[in-house]
Amino acid sequence: MSEHIKISVDEGIQRVQIARPDKKNALTFEMYAGLTAALREANENDEILVTVLTGSGDSYCSGNDIQDFLQNPTADDSSPVLAFAFVHTIIGSEKPVIAAVNGVAVGVGATMLLHCDLVYASPDASFQFPFVNVGLCPEAGSSALLPALLGHHRASELLLLGERFDADTAKQMGLVNAVVAEVEAAAMTAAERIAAQPPEALRITKKLLKSSMRDNISAAVQRENAHFLPMLKEAEAKEALSAFMEKRKPDFSAKQS
Ligand code: COA
Repeated sequence: MSEHIKISVDEGIQRVQIARPDKKNALTFEMYAGLTAALREANENDEILVTVLTGSGDSYCSGNDIQDFLQNPTADDSSPVLAFAFVHTIIGSEKPVIAAVNGVAVGVGATMLLHCDLVYASPDASFQFPFVNVGLCPEAGSSALLPALLGHHRASELLLLGERFDADTAKQMGLVNAVVAEVEAAAMTAAERIAAQPPEALRITKKLLKSSMRDNISAAVQRENAHFLPMLKEAEAKEALSAFMEKRKPDFSAKQS
């Protein structure tokens, strides 16, 4: 289990903290495995009624660890499969998931929020879907979920321009429920209310809320994955991801063959 995923359970609430603040909570493949295990435990354990996801330090999650992407880009490597297992697990999650977005949410740090049931953001939280920027394509079903939630034009703006936007903009777009200073306290208050509800009614309602979209989302994930892994090995992604790690601007012109 990853030391960077901290899990505790109290009064029916499972708190899952992404705890790698020095790397802005970037997710290594080991951390994906930790998140997946936590969500599976929530499904299987009747004492867990609701999950609260949160970050640490000044960040929620800066997406996939870019070093891992550079080192393990192949389709037959088991490591990326751990990321996909996390996506499949959060899509199929049986208990409500609440996110307390305490800072920057980028890449999968942002797309995982589309699968949460309630999302609270701190005033200094920010969001970004920078897949095109780094030579990749959308993942975690975001190519289907963002147009469904926001309409084609706003989804295109977020995915094609890949710009960062603030918590108030996310609230206006309907990506977060509320912007609150004490974001984890707000998420915990909602979690306590949910945990006091009748569990069977909760379980069925969560299932119904997600059921009409679930097949579409899973199909979108499959389509995305068919592109995502090969793209990781292409020159555009290699250049963009290496440039990030080397703290320089990417040069795509030099990489055209
Ligand atoms: N993978 C690996 N390391 C990451 C990372 C990631 N996704 N995001 C941040 N880090 C590391 C940085 O390399 C840096 O490490 P260092 O201290 O050893 O140099 C440290 O975390 C702090 O990041 P920094 O960029 O200096 O912080 P910032 O506050 O200026 O910016 C972000 C924060 C999240 C906006 C910025 O780090 C970022 O854009 N990260 C990449 C996001 C991304 O593209 N994710 C993947 C999309 S597929």
